Amino acid sequence: MSHRNTAAKLPAHILIFPLPSQGHVNSMLHLAELLSLSGLHVTMVLSEYTHGRLLRHGNLHSRFSRYSRFRIATLADGLPADHPRVGERIMDIVLSLKEVGGSLFRKLMESTDALSDGGTRRRVSCLIMDRVLSFALPVVEEMGIPYVYFRTISACSFWTYFCIQEIIDAGEVPLKAYQEWKDLSGDATFCRVDDINDTGFQTIKTETKRTTTAKALILNTFEDLEGPILDRIRKHIPNLYSIGPLHAHLKARLELKGIESSNHSSSFWEEDRSCMAWLDSQPENSVLYVNFGSVTLLTKDELLEFWYGLVNSGQRFLWVIRPDSIVENDGNEVPIELDEGTKARGYMLEWVPQREVLAHRAIGVFFTHSGWNSTLESICIGIPMLCWAYFADQTTNSRFISEVWKMGFDIKDTCDRILIERMVREIMEVRRNEFLERARFMATMAKKTISEGGDSHSNLDRLIEFLKSTII
Ligand code: UDX
Repeated sequence: MSHRNTAAKLPAHILIFPLPSQGHVNSMLHLAELLSLSGLHVTMVLSEYTHGRLLRHGNLHSRFSRYSRFRIATLADGLPADHPRVGERIMDIVLSLKEVGGSLFRKLMESTDALSDGGTRRRVSCLIMDRVLSFALPVVEEMGIPYVYFRTISACSFWTYFCIQEIIDAGEVPLKAYQEWKDLSGDATFCRVDDINDTGFQTIKTETKRTTTAKALILNTFEDLEGPILDRIRKHIPNLYSIGPLHAHLKARLELKGIESSNHSSSFWEEDRSCMAWLDSQPENSVLYVNFGSVTLLTKDELLEFWYGLVNSGQRFLWVIRPDSIVENDGNEVPIELDEGTKARGYMLEWVPQREVLAHRAIGVFFTHSGWNSTLESICIGIPMLCWAYFADQTTNSRFISEVWKMGFDIKDTCDRILIERMVREIMEVRRNEFLERARFMATMAKKTISEGGDSHSNLDRLIEFLKSTII
């Protein structure tokens, strides 16, 4: 079968394949839209599950309907529809795709329907893919299609994964004691193993090294934030494009073209906007916004520790607790003091339009799990952070937020009501202004980098040129 474009003048056709999880899909969709905006053909490969969630809760189709060259192709992830896809179970998606993904991806690439445009087959000129999707590689290699990695994590986290062998050689892994986990510099929870043959650990190590085989690497970060680490990565992967913060970059480019950029939801859960009216009624910078992202799970005990800590801190709080995020929920009544404290100063709900919430004048500090998208969203608004990382790259991000960028505190793995109360008071009442200064400075840098003449702006232009050059 011929995969050549029938019309010689068709633009390059880019296939974008994210790991089917909220954070990854969000940043890949921003990239997909930026490329669509520049006139490239883009096909987004989504798992059927993800596509279903986006159809139900996001505004995927209205958002992309203005791009005549944008398409969606779907692929099963091999898991039953009701399989939990949160917490550590997120790895089930990876393992399942590893098993079934290769043949499904081949079928997709050979299908005339999925990759056609009005009956004309559009040859894929380049694949942009997420980590651990290496089952796609033999297929594209066979077809002579180049591939590029887009790692949706920070450069500091990527670098930690990239250096796993050096960490082993330095004797830092395997770890002997829990205390070491917390103190390992730049740690990421994937490194918290007592056996270096651990499957997850080995997978991360191999998959990250494989990045060097790609034609290029894209990172959702910017030079003023992570320049020194980006320079180190460039020594191994010279064709590196730092084009973040992507959500802000997209907004800026849409505005430049006079296109409405608001209401860009790609939520997997229904957004509850009732909090906006509640925020309107709160004083400026007075609210602690608490949200631990799309994957975090809390036990009932952890939930209570956070809850007591927040209520006892005496601060106003807006707390987002995903409906599927509490494990061992026994449905017992909430202690009266928590109920009263929440009614007096708090507001709880299940999912919100996060970027809009962060931009509200009432928000003072973001209590975050330090997912990379959340971190960037906070940086762009210039909001200090209190960090409680759940897993994976989040621990590295938390450490950088507190120790390198000095934009907040990292409470590490601690989940204790007394400490939480103390840290919340400290950041809201004592240290906020100091962190705010750093956060605002970085927000200015973020704005600069995506403006004409900025690093991310020109890197994106270079990336687009590079992608255009992949057409055969
Ligand atoms: C995880 C990782 O920790 C992250 O670093 C990795 O790159 C992707 O997977 P996740 O829990 O999804 O991330 O967090 P994050 O990366 O912060 O992404 C969550 C996204 O959901 C953000 O864009 C955030 O704005 C959005 N969100 C979250 C909402 O729109 N509403 C909410 O209520 C919560």
